[in-house]
Amino acid sequence: MTNAAAELESLEGEIRLCTRCDLHTVANKAVPGEGPADAEVMLVGEAPGFNEDKQGRPFVGAAGRFLEELLGAAGLKREEVYITNVVKHRPPNNRDPLPNELAACLPWLERQIEIINPRFIVTLGRFSLGTFFPGSMISKVHGEVREKDGRFFFAMYHPAAALHQEKLRQTLLEDAGKLGEFLREKAKPTGQADKPETANGAGEDDSPEQLSFF
Ligand code: URA
Repeated sequence: MTNAAAELESLEGEIRLCTRCDLHTVANKAVPGEGPADAEVMLVGEAPGFNEDKQGRPFVGAAGRFLEELLGAAGLKREEVYITNVVKHRPPNNRDPLPNELAACLPWLERQIEIINPRFIVTLGRFSLGTFFPGSMISKVHGEVREKDGRFFFAMYHPAAALHQEKLRQTLLEDAGKLGEFLREKAKPTGQADKPETANGAGEDDSPEQLSFF
């Protein structure tokens, strides 16, 4: 096991025992995240839902099945990416995470990023986007690449949003295709890569649900 893998495993163990906010008193299992410690791509969702809370694994319910389809559209396999959430315990009835819960949980995500050191971070949904780009509106920036702190960030709507809004399903699939193009471009040997892809999904309606937080 590499140093990074051992550190990550130990961190995930700490996260399982976390009591930094009250969510651990109502959740069943913490969901630290899963994937290789040397993943190039990290996906960051919002918080565990019903199935994740039962199993202690991220994105294993309906949203997870769609996420796997999106990964496929981007030319990625679930086993090669690291998947986690901004909040590691399930909020009751899947309510939005509260500011104090987001703040309490952030140091875990920061450690995960430090250890894994991914080249690409894909934010899923507005809470994840807001963690890295406060004030950014998902309806404006989804499907776009931004560089920050030496990494590439790619914003996507949350896959669960597509389960309720059919129109977003297509948007998510298109954005996943753009992510795949960008990853393939960046995978070219040095000197052959073009400038980062910056096309966005202009014309998409804002979802009220996606706009309320920031
Ligand atoms: N939604 C999330 O944001 N994360 C999960 O792990 C599952 C559903």
